[in-house]
Amino acid sequence: SKAPVRVAVTGAAGQIGYSLLFRIASGEMLGKDQPVILQLLDLPQAQKAVKGVMMELEDCAFPLLAGMIATDDPNVAFKDAQIALLVGARPRGPGMERKDLLSENAKIFTVQGKAIAEHANPDCKVLVVGNPCNTNAYIAMKTAEKVGRIPSKNFTAMLRLDHNRALAQLAIKTGRPVSSFEHIVVWGNHSPTMYPDYRFCTSNGESVKDLINDETWYREVFIPTVGKRGAAIIEARGLSSAASAANAAIDHIRDWWLGTNGRWVTMGVPSDGSYGIPEGIVFGFPCVCENGEYRIVQGLPIDDFSRERILATLNELMEEREGVKDLLG
Ligand code: NAI
Repeated sequence: SKAPVRVAVTGAAGQIGYSLLFRIASGEMLGKDQPVILQLLDLPQAQKAVKGVMMELEDCAFPLLAGMIATDDPNVAFKDAQIALLVGARPRGPGMERKDLLSENAKIFTVQGKAIAEHANPDCKVLVVGNPCNTNAYIAMKTAEKVGRIPSKNFTAMLRLDHNRALAQLAIKTGRPVSSFEHIVVWGNHSPTMYPDYRFCTSNGESVKDLINDETWYREVFIPTVGKRGAAIIEARGLSSAASAANAAIDHIRDWWLGTNGRWVTMGVPSDGSYGIPEGIVFGFPCVCENGEYRIVQGLPIDDFSRERILATLNELMEEREGVKDLLG
């Protein structure tokens, strides 16, 4: 049987953690033959709640759960981790400016980036879920680069929920099953500036753009519906998306780890300069995964409308990067 994989999860006592941990332990992320050890990080005041989640994990008697620990020390949580899911973050409180949100999170993600770089497995795959996730991933990556043990390309951010939301809207609009769609992508920042792009999307090989044949719907309904879906969930539920966010995190890591068989998935990854996005900016790109590596899909035509949308979301990310520059030293 396989050696267990150490999976570190931060924010383990939170909402997303409660949807995520049970699915990892049941084998939905790394496969039904892959044992896992969960290394759970949360703040000191949340340790009791983490213990409660661990009691429930025990009570599931998952055959693949080979061990678990809880800690408030990032150096312990990330020790030898092959996968790190950075879910815990500082939420925006009342009266908190965007600038404060960025700097509060910068503190968290510099500490965690350093701990990962010093203690995790040298090939650790990192997914940042905690918002602002693109810039938090950028901060963790930049901090880790100072230590230099972990490749920068391993620091990714979660755009997969946006990708899945786009698929769901297209399935509803066309009445076709989600499984019939290929080649959707959401470019840019996980924020309302994101650009869900259906130009290459097919359903059973047919162009979805031609099937729908309604550019006004695309621009005025589809794009804003996907971009503001997070806010719509908060409005309806009184809490932010949790089960769907956990599901997207599972999808992101599973596809990175096991491959996509040529299918496109959206991942927030540090740019290598593709599509004119400055190197290092963590940006939603269409990716395919194989042998534990992702690759950005190359050579897609960018029309005027798409260029405008991609620049808008890029500008926001450049402003965020500017906002944390001093904190990175
Ligand atoms: P939550 O508030 O229920 O849980 C967050 C947990 O993180 C808490 O247990 C808290 O104690 C912990 N935490 C805070 N700071 C920490 C630190 N420095 N180290 C370790 N743990 C820490 O929040 P929820 O609903 O689970 O969401 C978590 C994050 O995910 C939020 O930032 C949210 O905005 C983000 N999110 C991102 C999505 C995406 O698509 N990228 C989608 C949905 C949520």
